[in-house]
Parts: sequence; C-alpha cells; structure tokens
Amino acid sequence: MKHLLSTRDLTRDEAIGILDVAEDMADVQSREVRKLPTLRGRTVVNLFFEDSTRTRISFEAAAKRLSADVINFSAKGSSVSKGESLKDTAQTLAAIGADAVVIRHPASGAPQVLAQSNWIEAGIINAGDGTHEHPTQGLLDAFTIRRRLHGTASRGRSLDGVRVTIVGDILHSRVARSNVWLLTSLGAQVHLVAPATLLPVGIANWPVTVGYDFDEAIDAGTDVVMMLRIQAERMMSGGFFPNAREYSKRWGLDDARVDRLHAATMVMHPGPMNRGLEISSRAADSPRSTVLEQVANGVSVRMAVLYLVLSGERGELS
Ligand code: CP
Repeated sequence: MKHLLSTRDLTRDEAIGILDVAEDMADVQSREVRKLPTLRGRTVVNLFFEDSTRTRISFEAAAKRLSADVINFSAKGSSVSKGESLKDTAQTLAAIGADAVVIRHPASGAPQVLAQSNWIEAGIINAGDGTHEHPTQGLLDAFTIRRRLHGTASRGRSLDGVRVTIVGDILHSRVARSNVWLLTSLGAQVHLVAPATLLPVGIANWPVTVGYDFDEAIDAGTDVVMMLRIQAERMMSGGFFPNAREYSKRWGLDDARVDRLHAATMVMHPGPMNRGLEISSRAADSPRSTVLEQVANGVSVRMAVLYLVLSGERGELS
C-alpha cells in the first residue's frame, strides 16, 4: 500500500487485510515487550494543521512501537503561520528524509494533493481532511465492532449483516463518511439519523438509509449506535444548527434512550465528546460504550497502516 487516503479506495478484501494486520499488532501489544524493530531507521512525520489528541498521539505511539523515528509538526508555532505553503512544507519534510507523512488538514483533499505531487516521495496517510475522510478512524471503528462481536476469532471476518446507526452531525463529519464507505464495503447495513439541516447534499447517492427520528431507529433495533460530535467550529454563525437544548432532546443519546437500547447494542463515539449534548455521561461511561476501546484499538490499527505503507506487502512481523 503506497498511501492511505480514503476508505472509499479500499476493496472489501483490502479492508479485511488491514484489520487482520491490526489483529497481529494487537497481539504484539498484549505482550510484555510491546515493541517491534520492524520500522527501525524509518522516519514518520506527524504533520498536523488542525488540533488533535487521539489521532496524533496514537500515530506517535504506533510509530514508536514499530521503532520508527517520529517528528511531530504542528502548524501552530511553525513557519506555516508565516505563510509557508503546503508545497514548501512538504519539500522541507522530504529534505529531512520523511518516509511517511501523516497529515491532518482543514482542507478536504490536501492529502490527495500531497500524494499526487512530486514534492515528496513519502507514503501519505490521511489523518483527517476537512469534511472529506478520516480513514484510520473508520478502520479502528470497524476493528472495534468486529472485536466486540467476535473477540480474538475476528481474523478474516467481514461485518455482513451488522446494523450500524450513525447519529448526529453527518454534514461536517469525515468520520461518518469514512465509516459509511468502509462499513458498507464490509457488509454492514448503515442507517443515518440527523436533523435535515445536518445532512449533506447528495446523501441520496450514499449506500445508506436515512431517517430523522432517533427513537424510531432505536425501536427498529440496531447492533451499534455511533454518536457523532457536533462540530460547532465548522458551523457558520447564525447557521443551521438546532439549538443545543432541542438537539440534545431529539438527537442526543441521553439516559432514557440508552436504557431503551437492546442489551447487546454497543455505543461508539470517535471523540472528543460533547458530554450532555450528543451523549450523556452515563451512556459514554457505560459498559456498552466502546469509547476507550476505540482509542486503544487506534494504536493497533495505526501500527498496521504504518507497517503496510512503509513495508509494502504483508509479510512476517519481526
Ligand atoms: N477522533 C479523532 O480524530 O480525535 P482527535 O481529533 O482527538 O484526533
């Protein structure tokens, strides 16, 4: 795999292959010594033009557990704030000897621009671009669902027939997009629930069903409820957001709704969470919540992606 830009680019077999390598990485992490020498001598640059907690630190942990050197670059405090272009930044990283660049950028398509340019030869990994995609989040979510359903017997399995309900700010969510393409490719049935104002134009062409009533979706039954963060920072002032109280009442996973879920239904959230808005603390901290499992699994998934991008084909881990 030369780059990872989008889950839409992945075939079902490729996606299962990545999840299976992530299982190998999870095995490594359960050992006393959690480190592999596999990427010794390789350099991974975390190039973040937007804030991040989970994605940045888990890519850093993943690279270090594979023995790569890691350079963390944040646009804040760099020459980007003096107007330096993406091209000049990329060429600077190439001169430093970056083998892989993990990029988060507010502009949809920025990772594709880097991958298609001749500015840098490194493998490019999309860590979230605008409202477009967040492929490693989709992969870690699929990995988490598969593990909750099948435990350590997950290898080789798809998500055929698994019912996933994604709720909230679909319009601004790169997480929703990466999950829609990946989960449906793996065979899941995806249902989206949102206020009409938080659904994108063109949703009729997505391989999903769409509804506006969260309670109706709960009554219909679902294996997974994936809550999305309300992305206030991407909303225009005076825009289309129902007010917080109304949003929480109609589309929030509050205590009453979490009590009505089937006992086996898992609750997911990519983080960061707006507690009390899209999800109540009881829902977020309940045993059915996978929020912290998602974070832990993110390290295994990102180890797998770095390994596949930097080592080419799947081979023996050493
Ligand atoms: N889920 C996610 O991308 O979180 P961060 O913004 O903290 O990286």
